[in-house]
Amino acid sequence: MFSSQTPAVGNIKLANGVLMPEVGLGTWKAHEGGMLAEAVKAAIDLGYRHIDCAQMYDNQPEIGKALKESSVPREDLFIVSKLFENRHRPELVAGALDQILSELQLEYLDLLLVHWPFAIKPEHGYEDPSGAEDLDNVPIMDTWRAMEALADTGKVRAIGVSNFNAAILKKMLPQCRIRPAVNQVEVHPYNPEHELVAYCQRNNIAVTGYCPLGGVRVNVLGDSLIQSIAAAHGCSPAQVLISWQTARGIAAIPKSTNPERLKQNLQSIVLALDEMHAIGQIATRQRKVDPSRNLPELAWVFHEKEAECPLI
Ligand SMILES: NC(=O)c1ccc[n+]([C@@H]2O[C@H](COP(=O)([O-])OP(=O)(O)OC[C@H]3O[C@@H](n4cnc5c(N)ncnc54)[C@H](OP(=O)(O)O)[C@@H]3O)[C@@H](O)[C@H]2O)c1
Repeated sequence: MFSSQTPAVGNIKLANGVLMPEVGLGTWKAHEGGMLAEAVKAAIDLGYRHIDCAQMYDNQPEIGKALKESSVPREDLFIVSKLFENRHRPELVAGALDQILSELQLEYLDLLLVHWPFAIKPEHGYEDPSGAEDLDNVPIMDTWRAMEALADTGKVRAIGVSNFNAAILKKMLPQCRIRPAVNQVEVHPYNPEHELVAYCQRNNIAVTGYCPLGGVRVNVLGDSLIQSIAAAHGCSPAQVLISWQTARGIAAIPKSTNPERLKQNLQSIVLALDEMHAIGQIATRQRKVDPSRNLPELAWVFHEKEAECPLI
């Protein structure tokens, strides 16, 4: 319907052949200004087809309403959601998917991710665990086998993980009947994840990079190199960051509720090889999301080399 105005968004082919649009709309905290439904509708009108949701964002009903009102056919959309850590017990996984589908008013998801590689107790809410007593002793492979069972139901077209480091994946992959199709992790020039991305891509696990603009905390948009490359191209720093990501074969899911930025974030530019290389060489290291939640018990989620995932 908007095809003549809609920028062409490329796709990343998942291991099972499903196509994932390489730029999607992030929705974490997107409801805070009361503009989420409008933003989702505007994004779809602009050409976004990939929407990144999660139980934890606590805003899926609003997104579901906007999706319902959209005139774009369901099969043209790529809708992602994530299993929250308090639903890792295998007997809770199918019910969690049903709740997600009900909130989003959908018959199926395109991709369901295990949001984090650790579990918290079922009675725990959406806040971070505050101590070891909040953690739940559920092996990741038990949760993953329940995810594999979901893939057989047709209610999800693909299954994947999020915030999994290579050490965990190395332990996990030989035990999988269906391998994770996607690993969604924080990616921007201050957290480029060169090794993890290479490992995933070698193993046919597509990577989606979250916080591609650094979120609200990491000022990668203000980085002097990013700004000078943007000036040279006559585009915004956000466009440089998103284009750097997609040129690496990584999907980017920038969040915005601002119509002008939504439009801009979909308009990629072509970076020269030396610009790609220079961005990849930026030495600053900073994450927005602390995977360990400051809990020593979760240090293995963060510290790749010490990853002694105790519960595989
Ligand atoms: N799997 C996980 O554990 C995980 C963790 C974190 C995030 N995520 C996903 O990744 C998505 C993106 O991450 P994020 O929301 O933290 O950060 P982000 O997309 O990197 O940055 C969002 C911030 O950048 C601003 N912004 C958007 N476009 C801009 C532009 N063109 N120029 C300047 N500023 C711009 C937004 O403000 P405006 O809205 O005002 O434009 C917002 O403040 C999330 O929404 C969520 O879907 C997943």
